[in-house]
Amino acid sequence: MEHAQAPLVTTSDAALADELTRLAAAAGAVITSASTTDAVLRGWTSAPVVLVGADLAATLADLAPPRRPGVQVIAWAPAPPDTYRDALVIGAERVVELPSGAELVAELLTDLGEAGRLDGSVLGVVGGCGGAGATTLACAVGQVAAAHGPTLVVDLDPLGPGCDRVLALDDAPGVRWDSLGSASGRLSGRSLREAVPRRDGLGVLGWPATPAAALDTAAVRETLSAARRGHDTVVLDLPRAGDQVAEAAAGCALVALVVRPTVTGVAAAARWVAALPDPCRVGLVVRGHGAAPDRVAALVGVPVITAMSDQRGLAEALDLGLGPVRSRRGPLVTAARAVFAAATEGSVLA
Ligand SMILES: Nc1ncnc2c1ncn2[C@@H]1O[C@H](COP(=O)(O)OP(=O)(O)OP(=O)(O)O)[C@@H](O)[C@H]1O
Ligand SMILES: [Mg+2]
Repeated sequence: MEHAQAPLVTTSDAALADELTRLAAAAGAVITSASTTDAVLRGWTSAPVVLVGADLAATLADLAPPRRPGVQVIAWAPAPPDTYRDALVIGAERVVELPSGAELVAELLTDLGEAGRLDGSVLGVVGGCGGAGATTLACAVGQVAAAHGPTLVVDLDPLGPGCDRVLALDDAPGVRWDSLGSASGRLSGRSLREAVPRRDGLGVLGWPATPAAALDTAAVRETLSAARRGHDTVVLDLPRAGDQVAEAAAGCALVALVVRPTVTGVAAAARWVAALPDPCRVGLVVRGHGAAPDRVAALVGVPVITAMSDQRGLAEALDLGLGPVRSRRGPLVTAARAVFAAATEGSVLA
């Protein structure tokens, strides 16, 4: 039986076929097996992933099938030396040796369960100055977004209060940056979603009690890519400075810059914007009273998404473990909704 979205497996090695069927079953995927070259070529372009047994790699290389992404050659370790040449001719992404590569195959197949789902949108929140309210707003936007679909708040600031604490998920079991801090191959969107501390639709990727050394750039890149594949919305709590900030901000559909409408608040926010290579997707959230939002926008040089007064009862809501959004009304939830809408609809920056 053929499934349009099923990975195509071709091998005449019965043990390899069994192993790939087992890995697929564990990943919740149904595979299509092609035992003849005709069958392989028929499914070659439409299958989301093609797993070619090393035993048939040379035969397939002779047929010179069209180049396509997602082809993997699977071999029992150690792969025969010719396998690498055949893989190159077929245009395979890699040779995966079993049994050590089983996890990688499982991850590739697991992501197929989410095939057809669009990558989630990523938005960042950063403070124009220290204590502006960025972490609070990031968590509030996470709570608002979670009502629309799976959402992940990613804490990129090792010196903040901890988004997991603000969202009252600090005692929840799950992975934190110390488990993901070094690049270890491809991480599936679903595995990340299921591994982080989570309540209903809202998960958080935070820090261990004692934050480890600085994050590895490649690991952050891989994690954010998996986060997008596994969630509808990803909210980044960005520190004002650090190795990851420019790249993470560049990957955001929108960066909400929380600014205090004071002389010092505006000056610091303007400096942050000036340091960005591409400030065109930044919008302001003006918090508190002082200079008019339009004036702040003119001075900082980016448009206003929204302005909000201080949220009363915030400390109490956090102490109660409710997260910053404790009711459907109030300045903070209204601002969080505006940021979410601006990121998903592109309204403010159009
Ligand atoms: N909308 C708000 N209304 C009232 N108080 C707020 C609001 N947002 C934040 N605060 C308070 O301001 C303080 C700093 O908040 P928060 O940690 O969110 O700021 P930040 O910009 O992330 O700071 P940091 O520079 O440490 O990253 C906290 O005490 C918080 O409760
Ligand atoms: Mg913060």
